Amino acid sequence: MNSPENNSRFIIKGGNPLRGTIKVAGAKNSATKLIVASLLTKDKCTFYNSPNKIKDLQVTTKICSLLGSKIEVKDKVLEIQTKEITNACINQELGSSTRIAILLAGPLVHRFGKAEIPIPGGCRIGSRPVNLHIDGLKKLGCNVQMNDTHYIFEADGLKGAEINLDFPSVGATENILIASIFAKGKTVISNAAVEPEIIDLIKFLQKMGAIIEVRTDRKIIIEGVKRLYGTSHRVIPDRNEVASFACAAIASKGDIIIEDAIQDDLITLLNTIRRVGAEYQVVENGIRFFYKCKLRPIAIETSVHPGFMTDWQQPFVIMMTQANGITIVHETVYEKRFGYVEELKKMGAEIELYNTCLGGLPCRFASSQYYHSAVVKGPTKLKGAEINIPDLRAGFSYLIAGVIAEGESIINGAVYIDRGYEDIDLKFQSLGADIKRVQ
Ligand code: EPZ
Repeated sequence: MNSPENNSRFIIKGGNPLRGTIKVAGAKNSATKLIVASLLTKDKCTFYNSPNKIKDLQVTTKICSLLGSKIEVKDKVLEIQTKEITNACINQELGSSTRIAILLAGPLVHRFGKAEIPIPGGCRIGSRPVNLHIDGLKKLGCNVQMNDTHYIFEADGLKGAEINLDFPSVGATENILIASIFAKGKTVISNAAVEPEIIDLIKFLQKMGAIIEVRTDRKIIIEGVKRLYGTSHRVIPDRNEVASFACAAIASKGDIIIEDAIQDDLITLLNTIRRVGAEYQVVENGIRFFYKCKLRPIAIETSVHPGFMTDWQQPFVIMMTQANGITIVHETVYEKRFGYVEELKKMGAEIELYNTCLGGLPCRFASSQYYHSAVVKGPTKLKGAEINIPDLRAGFSYLIAGVIAEGESIINGAVYIDRGYEDIDLKFQSLGADIKRVQ
């Protein structure tokens, strides 16, 4: 963590409304899973619109190359072929730094009979356990042991099973989905997550030769097949990047077009934007987002798809510091996703946190002490300050705060933003923001 790029930060002189056009990158939360799924075949797979510059994708490709994959990257194309798995133990430092490594359990067990995967740690947004992944893999017939550092998965072929998730976890759904492709018979995942990134993964697996049904009642049914083949696939555009820049544009009283943004994946965000008095327009090649009049407060709660996504919460909160009145945000996906608020107070934001479920029905954190509801008072004139980024989405929201604040802001910890956004400073600059990255 001590390389110069890890120390880089952003200096922003606030006050410019964002105007212009940007193109959204391919989705990190899809591309990384597609790369993992490609290990289910010995053939070559090609991904277009791959966000090759983002750090989480680079960590994923590094892990796969250490397992035996040959990877070539050119501009936005990524080719991967894993003729042979040469090692099924994932490097401790790399594997524990990402939530992606655990998804390799299925491909490694299928091709090597064994997988040793670093135990993913909690992070600043919550404890993020993987119990649902482990329970699901066990139900498919995987033997799972644990030592101080790794989970050890072993099986000589998996068997289809009925798996009911207590919570529609994105990662657990993906893990079970990938692992069950070659399981004998039928696997039924009930209460599955159905995020657009999961549908993208299913589309890729289908092209490779899998048989997967998606029902309207959160049931995914996988019929085991014997072999998958190489194919090519275009990664879906990153709906989180769209939401982030949409909030940035509106908060700055600007007007931007985000090329390649897809309406289907953003329906709840678009409704919310209109409800608070801002506007959008679906155009030929993307979506235009613009400020129209004073923003109105709202009560929202984050949820699994098709609800209001937890990764949109942070940029949305910054935008709502500019609304006329009191906004309530109830976070129901992660228990600690408001950790970023304290630093914002240095810029003058008036946000109070509560450990109760405000504005909605009780969520699974109702009887906990976690501060998972926020009351955002607006409008607030934010003032430039020096603040430290705690995580990816919070990082983007601090950039928005810097862009709309009076004076200069120093935002430390660019490395967090680089995990999930490509060329972020260049994109903001092209929209007219006065921002520079410094070491
Ligand atoms: C994915 O994380 C995304 N990450 C997250 O994006 C996103 O916020 C999240 O889905 C929700 O949409 C990637 O795709 C790499 P979950 P994931 O399993 O799969 C609990 C970003 O900024 N849970 O749906 O880890 C968990 O603790 C990131 O791009 C269990 O209790 O999310 C959390 O409270 C951040 N047991 C909730 O479920 C489990 O076994 C949602 O987690 C698994 C999860």
